[in-house]
Amino acid sequence: MTSPFSVTLSGADAAFLQTPLLVVVLLSDTPLPATLTGLDKATSGSITAAITQRDFRGSRDEILFLSGVPSGPRRIALLGIGSAPATVHAFRRAGALAARTALKMGTGSLAITGDALTPEQVEALTAGLHAGAWQYLDTKTPPPEAERKAPVAAAVIAAPVTPDTQAALANGNALGAGVSLARTLGMTPGNICTPDLLAATARDLAARHGMKYSELDRAGLEAEKMGSFLAVAQGTPQEPRLVTIEHRGGNAGDAPVVLVGKGLCFDSGGISIKPAAGMEWMKFDMSGAGGVIGAMEVVGLMRLPINVIGVFGATTNMPSGTAMNPGDVVRSQYGKYIEIINTDAEGRLVLADLLSYVRRFNPAAVIDAATLTGACVVALGHTATGVLGVDQKLVDEVLAAANSSGERGWQLPLWDDYTDLIKSDVADIKNSGGRWAGAITAAAFLKEFASDYPWVHLDVAGTAYSETDLGFIPKGPTGVPVGTFVQFLRTRCGH
Ligand code: BES
Ligand code: MN
Ligand code: ZN
Repeated sequence: MTSPFSVTLSGADAAFLQTPLLVVVLLSDTPLPATLTGLDKATSGSITAAITQRDFRGSRDEILFLSGVPSGPRRIALLGIGSAPATVHAFRRAGALAARTALKMGTGSLAITGDALTPEQVEALTAGLHAGAWQYLDTKTPPPEAERKAPVAAAVIAAPVTPDTQAALANGNALGAGVSLARTLGMTPGNICTPDLLAATARDLAARHGMKYSELDRAGLEAEKMGSFLAVAQGTPQEPRLVTIEHRGGNAGDAPVVLVGKGLCFDSGGISIKPAAGMEWMKFDMSGAGGVIGAMEVVGLMRLPINVIGVFGATTNMPSGTAMNPGDVVRSQYGKYIEIINTDAEGRLVLADLLSYVRRFNPAAVIDAATLTGACVVALGHTATGVLGVDQKLVDEVLAAANSSGERGWQLPLWDDYTDLIKSDVADIKNSGGRWAGAITAAAFLKEFASDYPWVHLDVAGTAYSETDLGFIPKGPTGVPVGTFVQFLRTRCGH
């Protein structure tokens, strides 16, 4: 399911590249960098003219098309990234916009360049090019031959070829492949992207990278006494799956980092059913699991020298004669009794047993990702992932990873006061804290099951997919939190 697309490097002068489209990345209001004078000459000075005439100002996402060079690029597009300093975020965005432009034009391939690109910028451009070239076509009939546009099959970055830029290119290609995999899983309709498909994808990934794969089905969850996960799964005839993939890239004795994902292939709300409008978005409720799968793909491609375990719980939340009901009390694997107030607060029920399950790995750290609450979208919109935890050192590490990966994260508090809101009259804890601070009471619930290791929770309800076209990324899945997961792991192992 990974895209065959990959980016290459060329040390040649961009003026001589045989490409249908050359994208030149430029900062705003700066003179043409010396490294691009050859290209400018080849265009008879039309790049400098565009800049000095202010036809092109270099503001973020600005694109100006120039005619090509007879012996080189057939078309040239200047692409603005705004004012200095140029961030990783800006280069990722530029790469994505460049490839998306090629996709819309149907050029089939493109080249991209900028001023003396650094390894960091090469990596960001590469990951961005993957993002822009990504598309989901599996369930659409192709248009007639004459109207068909070529997918973006190849991209070249014109930059100095050094061991460092080559390593950066490889890292960007790995990241791009993992993000694309997560996005494809997210976009795949719920009737196709079932718990079985998520499990099969993980099994294939593990086999390709020599990782250990294991899974539990309904009987396995019963044997593990996972009454909380099973309560969600009891409403659907589909077999639930708890999947574990183990990458042992570090020293044998080193405690692993464990990534945990919510994998609701569809969330109707169950008996506490959701309103019809917009319910189709709930196919994205497996984005936490998709993020774990995407991150493990990157871990495998990068061969990260660290022990990482990916775990996800996959099922669907359905109303049915066998579904859980409000008022039910279930016993979690951890031993705590949970009163179900709202069957739509199902993600935390699945995660409770996953967070309990992973204790057996003696984790160095556990990070879970889940499209957990609408309240998180109210708080932070589609811009930032909610980051919650009580181990402030780990929270800071995750925030740094999120923000340097080009994905954004923002901390919400998790004081004990919030736990008061989820006290139950009949059980140890209830699964809904009511209207206020919904993202926090959800995390406070998870905290009850994650007390035996350093833990951070990512609420990606707003960031895993976008309800609008963002220009550089179309409406739909974004690949969040793959970048955050991977950046965290790379920082831990110095890769
Ligand atoms: N999957 C949803 C959260 C969600 C909502 C994700 C909107 C993306 C966009 C989750 O299972 C859910 O339904 N949460 C409820 C919790 C409530 C019943 C306590 C919510 O947020 O309304
Ligand atoms: Mn729900
Ligand atoms: Zn859900």
